[in-house]
Amino acid sequence: MYDTLFAHRHYTMKIIYLITYVALANGVEKFEVFRQWTLLNYTWRSQAEYKDALKTRRYVPQNNAPAGIKIYRNILYASVPKFREGVPVTLTTVENKPFNPLLTPFPSWELNDDSDCGNLQNVQSMEIDTKGTMWVLDGARINNYTRCPTKLVLLDLNNVGKVIRVKVFPNEVSLKVGGFLNDLVVDETSGGFAYITDASPVDPGLIVYSKEKNEAWKLRDSSMFSGKTDPQLFIKGSVVDSSYPIDGIALSPPRDDRIVYYCSVGSDVLYSIPTSVLKNQQLANTGEWRKNITAVGRKLGQSDGITIDSDGDLFYTLPTFYGVGKWNTSTPLWTSELFDRDEQQMVWTDGFAFDQRGYIYLITNYMYKFIQPKETLFHDGRVLFRVFRYHTGTKSYLYDK
Ligand SMILES: *[C@@H]1O[C@H](CO)[C@@H](O)[C@H](O)[C@H]1NC(C)=O
Ligand SMILES: *[C@@H]1O[C@H](CO)[C@@H](O)[C@H](O)[C@H]1NC(C)=O
Ligand SMILES: *[C@@H]1O[C@H](CO)[C@@H](O)[C@H](O)[C@H]1NC(C)=O
Ligand SMILES: *[C@@H]1O[C@H](CO)[C@@H](O)[C@H](O)[C@H]1NC(C)=O
Repeated sequence: MYDTLFAHRHYTMKIIYLITYVALANGVEKFEVFRQWTLLNYTWRSQAEYKDALKTRRYVPQNNAPAGIKIYRNILYASVPKFREGVPVTLTTVENKPFNPLLTPFPSWELNDDSDCGNLQNVQSMEIDTKGTMWVLDGARINNYTRCPTKLVLLDLNNVGKVIRVKVFPNEVSLKVGGFLNDLVVDETSGGFAYITDASPVDPGLIVYSKEKNEAWKLRDSSMFSGKTDPQLFIKGSVVDSSYPIDGIALSPPRDDRIVYYCSVGSDVLYSIPTSVLKNQQLANTGEWRKNITAVGRKLGQSDGITIDSDGDLFYTLPTFYGVGKWNTSTPLWTSELFDRDEQQMVWTDGFAFDQRGYIYLITNYMYKFIQPKETLFHDGRVLFRVFRYHTGTKSYLYDK
């Protein structure tokens, strides 16, 4: 249905893309490099520990890649998901230095000790609300590095990352073997909600968590599957596994009935659903909520992370274009533009963050290679990971202007 509905617009967008491509090829660059790495390394507690970690392969430097980034009070936080052996910690702060900044386990080495299910196991992303609470998604369970249930951990950034709450998800909500809590947005209205994408290849869906009730429920719909009809992902000449389901999620700013937008890596269709529907647990049980899903249209291509700023502009990653798209959510989706691209520097545009000073941040990280243990990594000393920033003069979707 969506194919016929959007085919014409899609074609128009491709033409717009080509025109924009030419414009950008003439050197209109927007994002500037903020941080970059050839390799991730940590602030080890001692030289002995560092040497021992190398020897025992608790730390295999080339297997470490940053994924989620967020900023609070000028501190950059980064998650390091475990997709290969030798990733010693999974949540960190980044040293304030442009080239190869060291990562420090956050809130501590102890909370990053994965031998205890109560500690952080495998974190893909996090969000920080306006009060300084970090909502950490400890839910990458698509490999065998942990057998602990998935969970959401709330940390108080104004109190050295003290644990405020741990919500362990039951298997009915997110699988402890095969779950993949991928991204989230936080809604601070009605006592606080998180809307979470579960990119599980087995049981994908959209999880709603009410902070007030401390309860979670999951919505499952075909729009959240991978959308096998779409073209394969081509990056740097090779075909990339695009079978990931619902992944990118964005929330409109706190005005009226807020809208959640979501998309799967395997499809370029963007969907939306009102938060008043998501928040209604009874409605979730009936299946009636499916009537409230809207297929908004097609983006310029498939995406990983997406986000919205306080002005209502939706930024979306475009890994196959080595770039980022931008759409004013008050206008039709087909008017969206290729905002920036850089085939050399932006390899796998993954996700976004905002600071409180008017910048949007973008991380690029070759993730299509890291997530597939069979893929061979580079060993030529190239820069693999970059954090870019661009001044929008706006804040994140958490703020109303
Ligand atoms: C990694 O960081 C430690 C300090 O924590 C340092 O001693 C070591 O030389 C670094 N290794 C590399 C390869 O940069
Ligand atoms: C995890 O372990 C199970 C059983 O030991 C095995 O069948 C499966 O292939 C493993 N999964 C991965 C991703 O290595
Ligand atoms: C959800 O869909 C139902 C049935 O189409 C409709 O009556 C209702 O107004 C919708 N709710 C919202 C919040 O859009
Ligand atoms: C988005 O579009 C609306 C309607 O055309 C316009 O009023 C608004 O200023 C635009 N927003 C931005 C941030 O450009």
